Amino acid sequence: MKITMIGTGYVGLVSGTCFANAGNEVTCLDVDQSKIDMLNRGDIPIYEPGLEELVSKNVAATRLRFTTDYAQAIASAQVVFICVGTPQDHDGSADLKFVRSAAEQMAPHLASGTVVVCKSTVPIGTNRQVRGWIEKLTETTFYSASNPEFLKEGVAIDDFTHPDRVVVGVDEQAAADLLEELYQPFLSDSQPFISMGIESAEMVKYTANCVLATKISFINEMANLCELIGADINDVRQGIGHDQRIGFSFFQPGVGYGGSCFPKDVRALSSIAGQHGFNTRILKSVDETNTQQKSVLFQKLLDHFDCDLAGRTVAIWGLAFKPETDDIREAPALVLIDHLLDIGAKVRVHDPVAMENVKALYGDRIAYCQEQYETCQGAEALCILTEWDQYRKANYQAACSLMKSPVILDGRNLFDPESMAALGIEYEGIGLLKQVKEIRQPVQQIQ
Ligand SMILES: NC(=O)c1ccc[n+]([C@@H]2O[C@H](COP(=O)([O-])OP(=O)(O)OC[C@H]3O[C@@H](n4cnc5c(N)ncnc54)[C@H](O)[C@@H]3O)[C@@H](O)[C@H]2O)c1
Repeated sequence: MKITMIGTGYVGLVSGTCFANAGNEVTCLDVDQSKIDMLNRGDIPIYEPGLEELVSKNVAATRLRFTTDYAQAIASAQVVFICVGTPQDHDGSADLKFVRSAAEQMAPHLASGTVVVCKSTVPIGTNRQVRGWIEKLTETTFYSASNPEFLKEGVAIDDFTHPDRVVVGVDEQAAADLLEELYQPFLSDSQPFISMGIESAEMVKYTANCVLATKISFINEMANLCELIGADINDVRQGIGHDQRIGFSFFQPGVGYGGSCFPKDVRALSSIAGQHGFNTRILKSVDETNTQQKSVLFQKLLDHFDCDLAGRTVAIWGLAFKPETDDIREAPALVLIDHLLDIGAKVRVHDPVAMENVKALYGDRIAYCQEQYETCQGAEALCILTEWDQYRKANYQAACSLMKSPVILDGRNLFDPESMAALGIEYEGIGLLKQVKEIRQPVQQIQ
């Protein structure tokens, strides 16, 4: 099948490459000339495990190409996927300017019978708006479809090729049939193709992200409460997670969710509801809880140093919003860096792949260390923000030997506090019992 992906970012590049690898002829189109030049040189503009090899294999097989030329990319396509960004607007709603521009630029070149699919996460009703924008500029007949994307950065290729399900929203069965044929290599009995109305498909994506964000904010709230009442969130997780109605997934406490999807999608759905006169109390709380959670390590630093952080050096391991990506959009690490700079602390950072993106934001206001232990030199505390595997496996005695004081604040609960204490390290996680030892003391004395 001849396919064009409009927008060659995390979604467009990964899904386009996977479609090409399944034997389709794929053109990836972007307005960013430098991105397309990079791809045509064989370089990959984002970090995504396995993507470089898959791109070069499919470029060599002439199934995958990159361009900025709409006329060339659209005219021969049977299916056009819109995969452009839908960032948050100033009022929390989704900004559709990239979607509109993609629709208007493709319109004059569309061939009759093309299926125009919106893969970007868009507010309910957007696919109909896209149809309207295109129809103003062409008389060609075409199909519209919504096909929300569920891939996760860091494991995007596996997610795309082994989806839990593929969801499409259509008005006409012909469009659903073509898309089912396209997705056939990735489907199985347990990985179904689910076809529904366009509005329902648009709502599926927001609902899915909002459920996941809610789970994260919920467990973070429970973890914060555990710290106050002398309970341990790890024990609580075990106690609830084995209940098959609850499970463990997305119930890992931490420093809050970030990335390009959850924060903006929670706010966008609230905004959509508001436009219909409906107040989404749960979603607003989820967002508020998450915003506060991003400051939880800074609060712990303030508590630890009696609010005296000016001039102290703090090391940070992990800048990306999650492991296996260089994406720093809405990353909790940025909130911590901002707090520390505001209060006059010195910041030394490390991340295996996201450092260049952070450098573009902070320049020489913080120190970038190519080697993770180097960040600890002279630091009075080490904060762990992203659960990269190399931080799980790090030699913490070696790290602490370089520090002025062996203090580790772990925003991802990577370690057992007792083992850290045995190494002579002052260790705090999120919602862990060690922090309330003094509360348990009287009980032990009575026994
Ligand atoms: N990143 C994820 O993990 C993920 C997962 C599922 C869904 N989504 C959704 O998919 C959409 C895309 O996300 P992303 O992370 O891939 O975005 P991105 O910012 O990485 O990529 C978007 C690309 O679109 C290009 N673009 C903008 N306007 C254009 C136009 N008129 N014509 C051609 N190209 C244009 C940009 O230059 C950019 O390269 C968003 O709606 C997002 O919410 C993202």
